[in-house]
Amino acid sequence: MKIALGSDHGGYELKKIIVERLTSLGHRVDDLGCHSSDMVDYPVYAGKVAKAVISGDCVCGILICGTGIGMSIAANKISGIRAALCADCFSAKMAKEHNNANIIAIGARTTGPELAWMIVEAYLGSEFQHGIHDARVRMLNELDE
Ligand code: RB5
Repeated sequence: MKIALGSDHGGYELKKIIVERLTSLGHRVDDLGCHSSDMVDYPVYAGKVAKAVISGDCVCGILICGTGIGMSIAANKISGIRAALCADCFSAKMAKEHNNANIIAIGARTTGPELAWMIVEAYLGSEFQHGIHDARVRMLNELDE
């Protein structure tokens, strides 16, 4: 499974760490930028990751900016994206189990690298639980239309 990653300058250093760790564990990673700490605009990278997920090229995405807020707002503008801003492991697990989030957003200025990594692990290690949640995700999809 290939995972799309994106950040702005605020998330660039943390993205590097997450990309390295995912790669060293054997995950296929598509690093869609940014590729330096020069100032950029987060909606550009949210759009790239969201499109990689919607196209099916990547199974899920991880977006990192200063707070994770801009990235999550931007990604959720794309039809079919369920992006969850996660600052703790429980939320990351629930984002997958209940909301079937296809992107998580993390704030590099609010979440330290070790917690950020634990959030990524919690999300990737969880499965959508279906059942009652299927109908709710369907309702989310209807809101897209
Ligand atoms: C960039 O300074 C900052 O606004 C951005 O990284 C993010 O926090 C936006 O939500």
